[in-house]
Amino acid sequence: LAEGRRILTEAIDSAKRLVLFTGAGVSTESGIPDFRSPGGLWSRMRPILFQDFVASEEARLEDWRRRFHLMAEFEAAQPNAGHRAMAGLVARGEAIALITQNIDGLHERSGVPEERLIRLHGTGTHAACLDCDTRMEIAEAVAAIAATGRAPRCPACGGLVKCAVVSFGQSMPEAEMARAEAASRAADLFVAAGSSLQVHPAAGLPVAARRAGARLIIVNRDETALDGLADFVLRGPIGRLFEPADQAARDGAT
Ligand code: NAD
Ligand code: APR
Ligand code: ZN
Repeated sequence: LAEGRRILTEAIDSAKRLVLFTGAGVSTESGIPDFRSPGGLWSRMRPILFQDFVASEEARLEDWRRRFHLMAEFEAAQPNAGHRAMAGLVARGEAIALITQNIDGLHERSGVPEERLIRLHGTGTHAACLDCDTRMEIAEAVAAIAATGRAPRCPACGGLVKCAVVSFGQSMPEAEMARAEAASRAADLFVAAGSSLQVHPAAGLPVAARRAGARLIIVNRDETALDGLADFVLRGPIGRLFEPADQAARDGAT
């Protein structure tokens, strides 16, 4: 752990354009399970594909049941040491961007500003119409389902309303993807933390960064799909590996 901390701190200190990239693993220390670890979400339930959501009322209702459960879990959770350390790196200008696959809102709540945060998979904290993008609060959707027993419809156009996350089979948000690609190509150091790096196109970003000349550091508890490509693979809990990197940057800044 000490060696990993030293490597991370030194790399961050000498980087000019650090890009942070996170997955569900950054939030497990806040009590939110990830997807692919033993006991992770995908071992307990199958994902609801976008095409099923569009085609079936039953799938929509099941998706909403899961959303309410997850929302409650996200709201009860607090940002952890890893989130705080990363927010510190962004606040002090050490990191030019934080790209996340997470939809739990914890990076936002740890104080990362919108202009530095790139949400590749949307956000689980509100919903939107699939046709006209009118926003709906999750609480409104809950009320609509309770009142009608049916999945909520858009008050503006009657379209299907869905939690504003990117489901499998759904297209990626274009503007976010473009920002993420630009940041990755600009990076001289790309640190991927808490992601199994198995889900594309997100997992293509560390590859693009590496190709454009960045050093790649992977911080993860278990093996990832891109370990062979990394300059360093640091195995351990994110909170404990990042805390000193943040502290050192703070000391260096004063
Ligand atoms: P689902 O209803 O089956 O529920 C699983 C959910 O777990 C995720 O959607 C997410 O809400 C949640 N979750 C739990 N802990 C989390 C954490 N710490 N951080 C972030 N999220 C956490 O899900 P679904 O609607 O079928 O969609 C599955 C997920 O697949 C989407 O959330 C999306 O992010 C992802 N996805 C990725 C790509 C891609 O990279 N190309 C494409 C499609 C979908
Ligand atoms: N410290 C370090 N690593 C951790 C920790 C921790 N405290 N907790 C978990 N990990 C690691 C696990 O070892 C695992 O390899 O984080 C990784 C999380 O990987 P996944 O569960 O696959 O999550 P992620 O990579 O974010 O998934 C990508 O898939 O289903 C979709 O939309 C979902 O955005 C998600 C995408
Ligand atoms: Zn609409």
